[in-house]
Amino acid sequence: MNTEAQKSEKHSPHSATVKVIERIYFDNAATTPLDPEVLHAMLPYMSTYFGNPSSIYSYGRETRLAIESARKSVAKILGARPGEIFFTSGGTESNNTAIAASIRDLGCTQIITSPIEHHAVLHTVQHYNTQNGINTNYIKLQEDGQVDYNDLEKQLEASNAKCLVTLMHANNEIGVLLDIERVGELCKKYNAIFHSDCVQTVGHYPIDLSKIHIHFISAASHKFHGPKGVGILYVNDNIKINPFIFGGGQERNMRAGTENVYGIVGFAKALEIATNNFNKESAYIKDLKNYFQQKLQEKIPGLSFNNCADSLYTVLSVNFPKTEKSDFLLMNLDINNICASGGSACSSGADIGSHVLNALNKSKKHVTIRFSFSKYNTKEEANKVVEKLSELIQDM
Ligand SMILES: Cc1ncc(COP(=O)(O)O)c(C=O)c1O
Repeated sequence: MNTEAQKSEKHSPHSATVKVIERIYFDNAATTPLDPEVLHAMLPYMSTYFGNPSSIYSYGRETRLAIESARKSVAKILGARPGEIFFTSGGTESNNTAIAASIRDLGCTQIITSPIEHHAVLHTVQHYNTQNGINTNYIKLQEDGQVDYNDLEKQLEASNAKCLVTLMHANNEIGVLLDIERVGELCKKYNAIFHSDCVQTVGHYPIDLSKIHIHFISAASHKFHGPKGVGILYVNDNIKINPFIFGGGQERNMRAGTENVYGIVGFAKALEIATNNFNKESAYIKDLKNYFQQKLQEKIPGLSFNNCADSLYTVLSVNFPKTEKSDFLLMNLDINNICASGGSACSSGADIGSHVLNALNKSKKHVTIRFSFSKYNTKEEANKVVEKLSELIQDM
C-alpha cells in the first residue's frame, strides 16, 4: 500500500469516477484486505456456480462439493475431522454458540473467563449470568495480561459445578498469548469444558487440534485475508450439542440456512495460503513490527509498550505520554490517512475507553494506540508512520 494521498482517479462501483485516497493500513487486527488469490477462488461461486448446495441436480452438487472440499481442507490444516468443522457467520456467532451450547447442552453452570476477552465472549457470558443465573468467575491476570495459571487451577479445584473455561488464544488489543495446551490439560484434569476464541491466531499460527484437549474453538477468515461474514466453530467429536439455528438441514442439521458458499470457499483458500506461507510471512511481519518499534523508540521519547515477551507478532500496542492534545492522536493519524486503532475495532477513531486496558489499569496514564501489521505492509510505510507520529507529538 502507498501513502501518497489523493493521487489517482479510479472507477468505483457506486459512481462514475472517484478520487482514490491512498492510505497506510496498520489495523490488521480489526480486519485484513482480501488476498487477490482468495478473491479469484471465490469469484466462480458468485457467477458460474450459483446453485443452492441443497439442490440435488448438478448445480447443487457443484456447490455442495465446494463446501465439503473446503471443510476437508480446513479440518486437515487444523488437525481436526471434517465433521468437527461448522461454518458460521464469523467469530461472534461461533463464540456465542460455544457458550450457549455449553450451558444448554453440556450442563455447565459455572463459567471461568477473563476480563480481557473480546466482547463477543464477555457480553455473552454476562447475558447468561443475568438471564440464567450462571455463575461467572474472572481469573487473575498478571500485569502484562497473561493468565495466572495458578489462579485458574485454584478456581477449577474449588468448583463443585460443571465449568466452562472460555479464554482467548490471543488478545486482539495487546496481543498477549495463552498457553492453550496448558489450559487444555487443566480442563482435562478438572473435567471442564474448554472453549478458546482463536480469532486472532487461526491463519497466523500453526494449530494442531489433535494435540490439544479442547472442545470448541472460534475463528474468522477476515482476520487472515479471507472474506468477512464467514467463520468456523470447531466442535470436538467427543461432545454432542444440539442445533444452533433451526429451519433446515444445512451443516449436518446444526445450522440451518443456505450456506455462504463463496465465503466458505474463501475461508478455506485464505487458510491454505496462510498455512503454506506461514514461515516466510510470519518472519516478515515479525521483522516489520520490530523495525517499527525500534524506530518509534529512536524518534519519540517516553513511549512504552503493552506487549509482553509472548505476544502476537502482528500487534504492537503503544502507550504515548498523555498530554492535553494527545487524546486526538488517533484522529490526527486518520486525517493523515494512517489507519490504526485505539483498542478493538469497535472503538477505532473514538476514544470510548478500552475494557482491556481498564482491566489492566493502563488506560489512565497514557494514550494507547494499537498498530497491527500484515504481509502487505512495508518498512517504507513504517518510516512514514513514525515520521508523522513524531511530527504530531512535537506539535502537541
Ligand atoms: C478476538 C476476537 N474475537 C472475536 C471477534 C469477532 O469476530 P467477527 O468480527 O468475525 O464476528 C474479533 C474481531 O473483531 C476478535 O478480534
